[in-house]
Amino acid sequence: MPFIVFEGLDGTGKSSLMSALEGELSQRQRPTLRTREPGGTSLGDEIRQLILRTGGEAPAPRTELLLYEASRAQHVDSVIAPALKKKIWVLCDRYTASSIAFQAGGRGIPVDRVEALNDFATNGLTPDLTVLLDLTVGESRRRRQSRQGVQGTSADRIESETDTFHEKVRQSFLQQAEKSWGNWLVLDASNSPAVLLQDLLDELRRRQWLDT
Ligand code: TYD
Repeated sequence: MPFIVFEGLDGTGKSSLMSALEGELSQRQRPTLRTREPGGTSLGDEIRQLILRTGGEAPAPRTELLLYEASRAQHVDSVIAPALKKKIWVLCDRYTASSIAFQAGGRGIPVDRVEALNDFATNGLTPDLTVLLDLTVGESRRRRQSRQGVQGTSADRIESETDTFHEKVRQSFLQQAEKSWGNWLVLDASNSPAVLLQDLLDELRRRQWLDT
């Protein structure tokens, strides 16, 4: 079954698109698992707290990368690989491309180091499709801040980074999509949720993962 990953800056609408797709798959009686990184397991959720909290000792960039990879290894072995074996569709909010975008692109860790750790953590399990929701840094910041206003939450450690950091992250996502275009779908996240869902469903039909 397909393993689909959703990527993009924070505030680009990954969650809404994932929920919409989940609804479509459930209407078609396709067994689906929705999960996320960092997290997706109880150990991963504890690691998530460690990485994203704003108080306390900030991890060095290499520590940060290793924490994301530790969460990922647990997630692949205990959640993603078993679900795919059971022929369940897996929809994952972020995966290896986020480590390349944030830790290599944003933090400046050499990309080959990140790729090697991605490969180790995933045991070579790559997504069938990575959906990139692309949006300008300014617009994604605006959406993030308005969501935080509504929910009464505050920015986590990564969200608190500068626009320059997030611009490097965005460019890394776009470069990755260009390099592996056959396995990526780039969507313009400024489009309406209905258009984004239609574009995604069209792509799934084109790949013959869905008939209707
Ligand atoms: P996410 O769950 O998308 O954040 P939120 O729930 O606030 O929308 O991701 C958490 C943050 O972790 C996000 O800012 C991106 C970052 N991240 C990395 O830096 N590297 C990684 O490998 C992953 C998976 C996420």
